[in-house]
Amino acid sequence: MDAVHLQRLLARAIALSISAVAACDGSSNSTSPSSGVWTLPSDYQPVTCDTATALFSLEPIRKVTGADYIELRHWMLATEARDASLEPGRTIASSRTKCAGATDRDACLRAIDTATSDHGFVQFYLDVACPCYSYVVVNQGDSVRVIATLDELRGFLGAIDAPEKAQLVVWANGYDLACNASNASGVKQSDDGYEIIATRMTQDCPIQTTRYYLRVGRDASVSELRREIASDHGGCIGRRPLGLVAARQRKRSVGVLGEHFAHSARLEAASVDAFLILRDELTFHGAPKKLLAAAARAARDEIGHARMTARLARRFGGRPIPTVVARKPVRDLEEIAVENAIEGCVRETFGALVGMWQAKTAKDPLVAKTMKALASDEVRHAALSWDVAQWLRENLSVEACSRVESAKRAAVVALLDALRTSPSKELIEQAGLPPVHVALKLAQSLEHQLWRSRRRSCRPGTSDSRSP
Ligand SMILES: [Fe+2]
Ligand SMILES: [Fe+2]
Repeated sequence: MDAVHLQRLLARAIALSISAVAACDGSSNSTSPSSGVWTLPSDYQPVTCDTATALFSLEPIRKVTGADYIELRHWMLATEARDASLEPGRTIASSRTKCAGATDRDACLRAIDTATSDHGFVQFYLDVACPCYSYVVVNQGDSVRVIATLDELRGFLGAIDAPEKAQLVVWANGYDLACNASNASGVKQSDDGYEIIATRMTQDCPIQTTRYYLRVGRDASVSELRREIASDHGGCIGRRPLGLVAARQRKRSVGVLGEHFAHSARLEAASVDAFLILRDELTFHGAPKKLLAAAARAARDEIGHARMTARLARRFGGRPIPTVVARKPVRDLEEIAVENAIEGCVRETFGALVGMWQAKTAKDPLVAKTMKALASDEVRHAALSWDVAQWLRENLSVEACSRVESAKRAAVVALLDALRTSPSKELIEQAGLPPVHVALKLAQSLEHQLWRSRRRSCRPGTSDSRSP
């Protein structure tokens, strides 16, 4: 169940990234009736957005409420510590300086850092509440308060007499305030409050976003006026195993596309071994059966991926490169966790995102079709990695967990650095690979929504279990 929810959350993050980048880049070739064509009605004002977080800006809300500092925090119960009451959620946005007007700044800072809640604003996915919630932390003078219910929000905002207040109410009711041009959210004043255009992801395969026209009353009530399909992103995409033998350099006798897909087929085939090794090592360490079954299924998926990408390689004159994996002894939990963090939580998660981008932008129809098929599996594989990471975290010592987190951070930095080299024009056009600026935006989106670790995410566990 957790894996299903996490898969949906990943898909939602991917959808928002694709939507935002497509709008900035102007490169969307979606055939959706509204994507890339729809514009915000002229009587609506666009929602002010923060480009760093790709969220609606908190500063206008801070100003209108007179707060010194305001912050949004988010819990994703499927991926984060189970005892939500003990630790603060992850900060997803903030405005201005903590404790700017406090007389006892140290006490104020401690209060903000430890502000938490075991409940919050429910978020939705596919019109179903997902196991995640958000809450607001507000600081004014020495006061620090948590706002985690709609009643508390009404008390904080008072009458909804400013568009920024209406926006926060809509967000707290589980809608997204989209920041990109093709799906922009907007607000206008009406007779008894405000009308807001917001979005929500309502289908994940293919990914579909619905646009909602909402009325927000002065009493913070929210009613839906109408809805319409906003965009359809299409597709829903390796994991390198320990022991993967480096591929021999091949003569560049084939075109860049043939070479690209030949390497892709090799890595897809290597992913088969990666998931079989993961399954075997998790079995040795007593992991839950659902993780073992998911790893076995992922290995079967990767067999199909290897065949499909090998077909693409041959189509473009390439020859699939043989995969050689030298089996190694079973590793301890920390080694498995480090590999899972790098290969699964960072690389394969980003690979899923790139695959979806390719499915959307590749001019070659067979590439687009293949990537669409692969991407849906890769999102599930990425979700598995995060589930495996959660189980491993619960079974690692605090020190080992911290080392895994450091490895993950280093992998993110290495990835961001690697993305500064652009694919060839042919790969960008025919295979849909993202150019540098797009790839960086996609990765930064994952950084904001997934990779950025919460502080103290490592907690005492049962320490490393069986030694291999
Ligand atoms: Fe794959
Ligand atoms: Fe995969």
